[in-house]
Amino acid sequence: MTYDFRIAAADTGTMYRDLASALEGLVDGEPDAIANMANAAALVWETLPDLNWAGFYRNVAGENGPELVLGPFQGRPACIRIKFGEGVCGTAAATRQVQRIDDVHSFPGHIACDSASNSELVVPIVGADGQLLGVLDLDSPKTGRFSEEDEIGAMKLGEILSRVL
Ligand code: SME
Repeated sequence: MTYDFRIAAADTGTMYRDLASALEGLVDGEPDAIANMANAAALVWETLPDLNWAGFYRNVAGENGPELVLGPFQGRPACIRIKFGEGVCGTAAATRQVQRIDDVHSFPGHIACDSASNSELVVPIVGADGQLLGVLDLDSPKTGRFSEEDEIGAMKLGEILSRVL
């Protein structure tokens, strides 16, 4: 079986629609969370321009309560554990609010895994029974890379994944 999910859309809205249907196809009928996150990271990485990191942090029970632990991703090796409330990802996890940050260097407590990152979009992924499953984290070397359309599109991806993680 071959997968060819290269998406070349004329505009951002269409690109995210194509991305969402490609993701639905990839995860359809597959219950393995790691496989689904791995394919989602690869799909996003292949499709969205100007990223230097795309992947997941999972909500894992730690010794001192829940924390985010690195999941499947594309890009450079990254920080492994992030406390709730810390940095952009930890803020998304603690507040369950999307974080769309134009300039991460002005974000209090930003965790600089890769000094090339300048903007970031983090989407919390919440399961059907209301539990936080993890976050989808996209990083860009471009300041202000992520628009409201990116936010809406990435939230749709998070919603698709919330059913299969
Ligand atoms: N910069 C992030 C840490 C994760 S990496 O970018 C992959 C943050 O502040 O949450």
